[in-house]
Amino acid sequence: MLVNASEMLKKAVAGHYAVGQFNINNLEWTKSILLTAEEMKAPVILGVSEGAGKYMTGFTTVAAMVKAMDKSLGITVPVALHLDHGTYDGAKACVAAGFTSIMFDGSHYPIDENVAKTTELVKLAHDNGLSIEAEVGAIGGEEDGVIGAGEVADADECKRIADLGIDFLAAGIGNIHGVYPANWKGLDFDALARIKEKIGELPLVLHGGTGIPADMIKTAISLGVAKINVNTECQLSFAAATRTYIEAGKDREGKGFDPRKFLAPGAKAIQDTVREKIELFGSANKA
Ligand code: 13P
Repeated sequence: MLVNASEMLKKAVAGHYAVGQFNINNLEWTKSILLTAEEMKAPVILGVSEGAGKYMTGFTTVAAMVKAMDKSLGITVPVALHLDHGTYDGAKACVAAGFTSIMFDGSHYPIDENVAKTTELVKLAHDNGLSIEAEVGAIGGEEDGVIGAGEVADADECKRIADLGIDFLAAGIGNIHGVYPANWKGLDFDALARIKEKIGELPLVLHGGTGIPADMIKTAISLGVAKINVNTECQLSFAAATRTYIEAGKDREGKGFDPRKFLAPGAKAIQDTVREKIELFGSANKA
């Protein structure tokens, strides 16, 4: 059932768990995530980066595929189709394409410009029934080829953006996308507590969910994080399972080169990763 992400995240804040956002890149990933969310009776958010949107030939194709697949698989849990790290133009395009949720990432703009653009997109999103995520304090690591260092968001700036009527807020607390380096200092929980105090019940989003130790995930949830994004971990498990299949020579046996066979181990690996995350985030049986 396609919905915006507003209600599912309000419920997550009240119930002290987090909904997983899993990024999609193709049909197999989408199917794996939807089937696992349904099996676990968990609400779920499908994230689409602008790069992934382009790869899948555009946001309209993505929206059509997700809506049709949600129906044909008989998915009953709430599913939000969400733009991940959207630009100003990308956010507008996803509203037009039929997404149910957008993220506008204005974190690299001066705060006044982030406020102005976010204000405009909040109105556009809400007028069309979508939920909207905004960002303060750039998340480090790699976002679609752009590498940045993890910032810690200023609590007063978070409050300014929160007051614009957004539905959930991504605030940098030292988290980064991709695999964490060995000398990573961990999440800044003092900053998270300061932000939480300023923004009240607004759901917080933790990006860079790959490789954050389970105890840090639990602490983050206890401090108001209600949405956790995972992308790289699905990519790694997909690649590892595919590599194992090839190294075992399975692609040279029978019809092992048939894409439906060839991609099956990776699709199963994504299901295992998503299942593990839903357990960790506490969102099973919350649909
Ligand atoms: P990872 O790739 O580190 O899991 O981060 C995903 C993310 O935050 C997408 O916005």
